[in-house]
Amino acid sequence: MTGYFIVFEGGEGAGKSTQEALLAQELTSEGKTVVRTREPGGTPAGEAIRNVLLSNEYAGLSDRAEALLFAAARGEHVKQVIRPALEAGAIVICDRYLDSSVAYQGYGRELGADRVRDLSVWATEGLLPDLTILLDVDPSVGLSRVESPDRLESEPIEYHQRVRAAFLDIASREPDRYLVVDASGSVEEIATTIRGRVAELLGGNA
Ligand SMILES: Nc1ncnc2c1ncn2[C@@H]1O[C@H](COP(=O)(O)OP(=O)(O)OP(=O)(O)O)[C@@H](O)[C@H]1O
Ligand SMILES: [Mg+2]
Repeated sequence: MTGYFIVFEGGEGAGKSTQEALLAQELTSEGKTVVRTREPGGTPAGEAIRNVLLSNEYAGLSDRAEALLFAAARGEHVKQVIRPALEAGAIVICDRYLDSSVAYQGYGRELGADRVRDLSVWATEGLLPDLTILLDVDPSVGLSRVESPDRLESEPIEYHQRVRAAFLDIASREPDRYLVVDASGSVEEIATTIRGRVAELLGGNA
């Protein structure tokens, strides 16, 4: 595949959407083809699944059903959107991916990191990001930035602390594939750090 797959991960209100928009704008202004997408969702079936996952209407959804729905939406997303875009040479910028499932369902819900990861690896036929940008911030700071909490954002702070620790642990295992950014900094500082690392990734093709 000729494109690049860049994923943003991090807790609620860490600044993912803000930084994705800035990076997409920057790369587009350099004449590159950028596809911005998000999880769960990105396809009609995926958006329907997203509604089940995030709506407060389904507050009692079981942990395993939750994990399976995330994997189902992800598989559809890769098949219909991400792989075709990468094959066409685009830079795909995706809001959340497999590590969110490992962090939220594997560690947060304590379903087991390996099992949850395997589900998504199967669902996506093994597609992994070229670079994952982890925006790391204390959950109390991130959550204070969120105006109307959805079903997952309404979980207790300890859950979000587990998720944060899980993301940091995952990133520390593969430093070449992750950029961990202190997301308590200013929007501009964070954007500059991200631009530098992405330029490195694009290397000769920048
Ligand atoms: N570095 C920053 N410092 C202070 N506020 C920020 C920063 N980055 C983003 N914000 C603000 O915090 C809020 C959440 O940011 P954003 O929506 O980008 O986060 P997110 O990680 O996408 O959140 P969510 O998990 O809800 O999708 C927004 O109001 C945004 O303007
Ligand atoms: Mg967002």
